[in-house]
Amino acid sequence: MKSKRTSLVHLIYFSRLNLSADPAARAKQIGEITRQAQKKNEFAVITSFLILDGPFALQVIEGERQSVHETFQRIASDSRHREVQIVEWREILKRDFVTSFTTVTRAAANEAHFAKAGLLPMLQRGTPKGGAIHGLAVTLQAESMAKQGIDHLFV
Ligand SMILES: Cc1cc2nc3c(=O)[nH]c(=O)nc-3n(C[C@H](O)[C@H](O)[C@H](O)COP(=O)(O)O)c2cc1C
Repeated sequence: MKSKRTSLVHLIYFSRLNLSADPAARAKQIGEITRQAQKKNEFAVITSFLILDGPFALQVIEGERQSVHETFQRIASDSRHREVQIVEWREILKRDFVTSFTTVTRAAANEAHFAKAGLLPMLQRGTPKGGAIHGLAVTLQAESMAKQGIDHLFV
């Protein structure tokens, strides 16, 4: 089981969304992003988790250094968001996310997790902590897997 993996990294960024204010149109836009991102990430063996918190997008992207670089180049030039800022970029020993692309939107059902992470004031100041974004993403993923009854597969 000691396969030597080379240069696995994660990149965490945040941005301001340029999506429609109309809920139905916004849902459609998010659906389009999901379709594109899933396909590209599967091909590039990228795993990722996207959090949508009001006007902000927060994403963790994991994979081989070059794949993460290329994926981020595309994301950063996407006009569906702006002010894309890297919070953290570093080597990691293992991946923490299990799907190519999962997105979770802040809502009443998960409000407690968002409130506990306390990211909103940091986002408004423009100084969110990488650890806080990553921690919230891990928590939201765990909850989503528990709901699907597949959490025991990933302990
Ligand atoms: C908030 C946000 C997150 C995105 N996440 C990804 C992603 O994880 N992977 C990806 O390939 N594209 C992602 N995209 C879409 C890319 O920006 C881009 O549109 C897509 O990769 C298609 O690129 P292309 O038009 O050069 O083929 C994201 C876009 C937005 C707005």
